[in-house]
Amino acid sequence: MDRLILISMLCLWAGSMPAVHGGDPIITFEWKVTYGNVAPLGVPVKGILINGEFPGPNINSTTNNNVEINVFNNLDEPLLFTWHGIQNRKNSWQDGTLGTMCPILPGTNYTYHFQVKDQIGSYMYYPVTDMHRAAGGFGGLRIHSRPLIPVPYDQPADEFTVMVGDWFNKGYTTLKKILDSGRNLGRADGVHINGKNAKGDGKDEPLFTMEAGKTYRYRFCNAGIKTAVNVRFQGHTMKLVEMEGSHMVQNSYESIDVHVGMCFTVLVTADQEPMDYYLVASSRFTKRELTATGIVRYMNGKGGPKPDLPKPPVGWAWSLNQFRTFRWNLTASAARPNPQGSYKYGGINITRTIRLANTAEKVDGKLRYAINGVSFVEPTTPLKLAEYYGVADKVFKYNNIPDEPPAQISNVALEPIVVNITYKDFIEVIFENHETAIQSWNIDGYAFFAVAIETGTWSPDKRMNYNLLDAVSRHTIQVFPKSWAAVFITFDNAGMWNIRSEVWDRHYLGQQLYFSSLSPNRSLRDEYNMRDGTLVCGIVESMPKPPPFSS
Ligand SMILES: *[C@@H]1O[C@H](CO)[C@@H](O)[C@H](O)[C@H]1NC(C)=O
Ligand SMILES: *[C@@H]1O[C@H](CO)[C@@H](O)[C@H](O)[C@H]1NC(C)=O
Ligand SMILES: *[C@@H]1O[C@H](CO)[C@@H](O)[C@H](O)[C@H]1NC(C)=O
Ligand SMILES: *[C@@H]1O[C@H](CO)[C@@H](O)[C@H](O)[C@H]1NC(C)=O
Ligand SMILES: *[C@@H]1O[C@H](CO)[C@@H](O)[C@H](O)[C@H]1NC(C)=O
Ligand SMILES: *[C@@H]1O[C@H](CO)[C@@H](O)[C@H](O)[C@H]1NC(C)=O
Repeated sequence: MDRLILISMLCLWAGSMPAVHGGDPIITFEWKVTYGNVAPLGVPVKGILINGEFPGPNINSTTNNNVEINVFNNLDEPLLFTWHGIQNRKNSWQDGTLGTMCPILPGTNYTYHFQVKDQIGSYMYYPVTDMHRAAGGFGGLRIHSRPLIPVPYDQPADEFTVMVGDWFNKGYTTLKKILDSGRNLGRADGVHINGKNAKGDGKDEPLFTMEAGKTYRYRFCNAGIKTAVNVRFQGHTMKLVEMEGSHMVQNSYESIDVHVGMCFTVLVTADQEPMDYYLVASSRFTKRELTATGIVRYMNGKGGPKPDLPKPPVGWAWSLNQFRTFRWNLTASAARPNPQGSYKYGGINITRTIRLANTAEKVDGKLRYAINGVSFVEPTTPLKLAEYYGVADKVFKYNNIPDEPPAQISNVALEPIVVNITYKDFIEVIFENHETAIQSWNIDGYAFFAVAIETGTWSPDKRMNYNLLDAVSRHTIQVFPKSWAAVFITFDNAGMWNIRSEVWDRHYLGQQLYFSSLSPNRSLRDEYNMRDGTLVCGIVESMPKPPPFSS
């Protein structure tokens, strides 16, 4: 029997999937997005709910599923969600960033269509508009392996999504006002675990329940604004099995740092005395430690958790060393978006090196964050649409930042940033952080090889120390203070892709850009057409739709 049909049948038989489309099942969701009170730290504040839930519902999928999400925006502001880590092959149209899509207007709905093509792992979604992410609207996105693809560990008894992050009690509209007035966001008020923090009064409901002797899969993501969070289980170790789409060499950890925007999967075995235990999340690199706890319960256990919490690590050198222990398991079979054999990335010649340095600047007395001397501002016409309609020159300039940081920054320009990348080039990107704050970067549309994070200043001879063998293929990377990080990317996914600081005040005030990589053939084999029903806005709204790409 044809393998695709067999897989589809297995899915139908499992009762989880409706009809098939292009051989791959479609899974559909309907989201009603509203305001509602939330109180992760006990202080009620205007939050953003999806179908009444905070955090939002899980998207549970299997490799190659076609995902359709009909989003009803019942807020009084424009809204867009991005599918963080989903590569949207050939389809930056649905990436959900403001450079690729028009926002969903208040009181209207729009249906996203994307495919979780050739991916597995733990991901998340969150709103990119305004400072909405500081109010909620985030949630987990799981991609399971297809039934016939072996997974390098036994099927766990159950699985849990754990969204951690910092939290501000001020509410997102106040945060926006602070940033709009050019001031610093200041410190978060606390940390939450799935929008909660246990009171420790003996009456806390458990976040998760395990059965003694069984093993569980926990999917962690940091959906917070600016704070790296360390997570750990009282009395239990975590076996790291997956990180942002890659099966890992399975090391055990007492605790793991979750940098902003980062996701990973661990296995935890309920092998201790049956009782309650704390799951602890605490802030890293902050003056005052912010801690949240949640209860993990053993079924039929005998009572509450011990009060002593496991201690967090100290200093960021610890985190850098932990990064170096992350290795890709090269022999584990899994869906891989990159072409066959490209995991031998160490032998490919680099065609271009792009060095991106973040700086904090004052422009007309107001705080702005810049990259190589330019601070990004959102245009009213999405960059992708401007490019597609042939009016790019009216909206942005290609290559308006240099490939390396200028020696001196005099006038910081406030404009969209678009770097033109030759389709299929193999590019080295160096993220340079000369500041004293920690940075975290995400690249949409691709998985990159995270070959190095080092302290000090990058220079070409540092390539000698890159991990050219088993660096993890992933989509976010942290850069410690006065440090740099190097990643390798094959630009084989045509489209307009967002590179952003996951540190959301930095993102909001200009630390993001786009890589445009167009197939010279403008062929459907390389990039999908703009779908019928795509929202249009800005200067393209009144223009006739360009003829579609040919086959
Ligand atoms: C999630 O999807 C997987 C695989 O498609 C399935 O085995 C599992 O039962 C699903 N879980 C939920 C809660 O729907
Ligand atoms: C809006 O929702 C309706 C009802 O579910 C659906 O028929 C329609 O296709 C949706 N519109 C868009 C643009 O997704
Ligand atoms: C890598 O995955 C393979 C295949 O599942 C497994 O046999 C092996 O033990 C894994 N290696 C490590 C170091 O985790
Ligand atoms: C890389 O570049 C070197 C020097 O130009 C050349 O000899 C080699 O064949 C190239 N390797 C590949 C894989 O293209
Ligand atoms: C972008 O780069 C490609 C390949 O180098 C080139 O053909 C194209 O003209 C460039 N486009 C722009 C707008 O600079
Ligand atoms: C464009 O199409 C031609 C003919 O199919 C092919 O040979 C060439 O490799 C394609 N170019 C790219 C950059 O994919």
